[in-house]
Amino acid sequence: MIVTPVTKLLGIRVPIVQGGMQWVGVPSLAAAVSNAGGLGILTALTQPNPDALRDAIRETRRTTDKPFGVNITLLPTINPPDYEGFARAAVGEGVRIFETAGNNPKKLIAYLKGEGCIIIHKCTTIRHAKSAEKLGVDILSIDGFECAGHPGEEDVPGLVLLARAAQELKAPYLASGGIADSRGFVAALALGASGINMGTRFMCTIESPIHDRIKEKIVAASEQDTIHIFRTMHNTARVFKNKVSTEVVAIEQRPGAKFEDVRDLVSGQRGRQVYELGDPEYGIWSLGLAAGLIRDIPSCEDLVGRMEREAEEMMRGMSRHLKAKL
Ligand SMILES: Cc1cc2nc3c(=O)[nH]c(=O)nc-3n(C[C@H](O)[C@H](O)[C@H](O)COP(=O)(O)O)c2cc1C
Repeated sequence: MIVTPVTKLLGIRVPIVQGGMQWVGVPSLAAAVSNAGGLGILTALTQPNPDALRDAIRETRRTTDKPFGVNITLLPTINPPDYEGFARAAVGEGVRIFETAGNNPKKLIAYLKGEGCIIIHKCTTIRHAKSAEKLGVDILSIDGFECAGHPGEEDVPGLVLLARAAQELKAPYLASGGIADSRGFVAALALGASGINMGTRFMCTIESPIHDRIKEKIVAASEQDTIHIFRTMHNTARVFKNKVSTEVVAIEQRPGAKFEDVRDLVSGQRGRQVYELGDPEYGIWSLGLAAGLIRDIPSCEDLVGRMEREAEEMMRGMSRHLKAKL
């Protein structure tokens, strides 16, 4: 058993968390991860409105009696979604674990703390992690440059970022970004993390709701198959490298390029269609460097069980090896 402050705080067996994922973090996946002994997370904004989130929470409860969480991602957008409504709906349904991510989380964190919730706050810099610590979050999720989705603008990979977290943070933290196997898991623990957070790896499981052709594309992908869009807009996102994302980057390079110039190409609905139609070239979809490590499409139970078992063996093997050397 790998017991850490995170397993104790969250009431889970293995310190493996499935990060929020737009269009992917739905009841089937969250429940499967929680049933496997990790923490599954529903993504609030995948639902059209707070009532639909209530239904998703109920559906998840029907398939697991283990703890699970809800991700609320604060987006840099002019017309923000009803964050408060989503948060109130989840709290009203009895959810007590939240993953927060994105800009200006102060108000949301204050509300959730007031309701006695446990908050995992995801960030990409030590500066933001320390501010979130001051706001009272319980667990930090430290997302390195390898990650799918938004790695921030400072480009610090996990190896340095996590060692910096060990120097600076008091709260327990999860290592996030670039982890897909037991080697990454053990490395994260060695870097002072109390567990790991994975996105890309969980996309490629039996219970993940995306089309099989996309899962197969991830298995076939290497660590060279991602690209950063929105660098010029200071809202960098690591996504699958295809015709659409390559075109977006080319348009961004044009003098005076604006978001309007790429709006249609990057539309969330087009990204969603990728998962429904199974056409990896149809739109923009998030993918991390960890894709290069993925070789199969296991059930969440097999994946979490395998990572737990192999990590334990690896740590025992390392201590035997080191003792023999001393
Ligand atoms: C398809 C996909 C969608 C994602 N959507 C979100 C999201 O809506 N909100 C969020 O906070 N993080 C999102 N992420 C980031 C993950 O929660 C996690 O931080 C990241 O995937 C970790 O890096 P990894 O993919 O290398 O494991 C997404 C990741 C993926 C792969």
